[in-house]
Amino acid sequence: QAFPSQPTKITSIKTLAESPGLTSIPATYTFTPDLHDQVICVPEGSIPVIDYSLLISGTPDQRSKIVHELGRACQDWGFFMVINHGVPENLLSSILDGCKGFFDLPEEEKQEFKGNHVLDPIRSGTSCNVSVEKAFYWRDFLKVFVHPVFYSPTKPAGLSEISLEYSQRVREVARGLLKGISESLGLEGSYIDKAQNLEQGKQIFVGNLYPTCPQPELAMGLPPHSDHGLLTLLIYNGIGGLQIQHEGKWVNVCALPNSFLVNTGDHLEILSNGRYKSVLHRAMVNNKATRISIAMAHGPSLDSVVSPAPELLVSSKGNEPAAYAGMKYKDYLEIQQSNKLDGKSCLDRVRIPAV
Ligand code: SIN
Ligand code: FE2
Repeated sequence: QAFPSQPTKITSIKTLAESPGLTSIPATYTFTPDLHDQVICVPEGSIPVIDYSLLISGTPDQRSKIVHELGRACQDWGFFMVINHGVPENLLSSILDGCKGFFDLPEEEKQEFKGNHVLDPIRSGTSCNVSVEKAFYWRDFLKVFVHPVFYSPTKPAGLSEISLEYSQRVREVARGLLKGISESLGLEGSYIDKAQNLEQGKQIFVGNLYPTCPQPELAMGLPPHSDHGLLTLLIYNGIGGLQIQHEGKWVNVCALPNSFLVNTGDHLEILSNGRYKSVLHRAMVNNKATRISIAMAHGPSLDSVVSPAPELLVSSKGNEPAAYAGMKYKDYLEIQQSNKLDGKSCLDRVRIPAV
């Protein structure tokens, strides 16, 4: 079996994974085993679960309880599940199907949506960033900017309509959650919305395909990284693989059916001056079933400069120094998307060392 030696020639991991008789993976796809160690499974029920319906239409008491739970989830985990979010089940399954339809297109057709620059509104490809990576990830992706201007690949038929509806519905949930999160920080509900101009906020659809892998213990779907925006809402096709870092360990996470898996991003860490941490996570692969996930990232508007909220830097205990320098979101996004994500966070670029 001859493998392409030049990574730039690999058009998709799907094609490689479907090579007849594939029993081992090319050396360029292998990682040192320590990436896989230390995994623990948390008992079911220990990951915070947020009932969105109570945040939106609960009694004042129920609402303030959920706001408190949101704050705890952001502080202790940077990660939680959202149930009763109101996005219809059939929309979740249609968008997963639409995404699969895209990855199933012939290679030449997917190439039409390849994109050239990290800020191109539609990009599809494999691994993360093959021009700078030494080792490759067992993953194909489709990244599309869906707000403030909506884009979509024109194929497969129907994807564009479903994606538009899905994007709008998920955005609504993200904004509702950010309102609760604002309040959990002791800020006004509309604080984040206003400070980061969410009316023009960047929303990015990231579809991921992780085909079955003959040596899953050696491969990696997506390396450890934190997300650049404020909040990411993830769904997947029922096949597990997501791990998050919690108290120094990798934790396997599975979602309740039809829930969103939500994680806080770098810009929430910056805005909250480090009260809420942007959680590291990664995707593992398996040899039994293809995994598809859709991460919807919600960030500030591209021209927003995000700094810690000044209101959080003064308290009865005195002044707290800003732990992060402001940077324009567009510049941040560009840096984060073009560098190798080798377990480091792009946050290191804006972190101000304590004196
Ligand atoms: C992501 O971090 O963007 C995706 C993780 C996953 O596929 O579960
Ligand atoms: Fe992510």
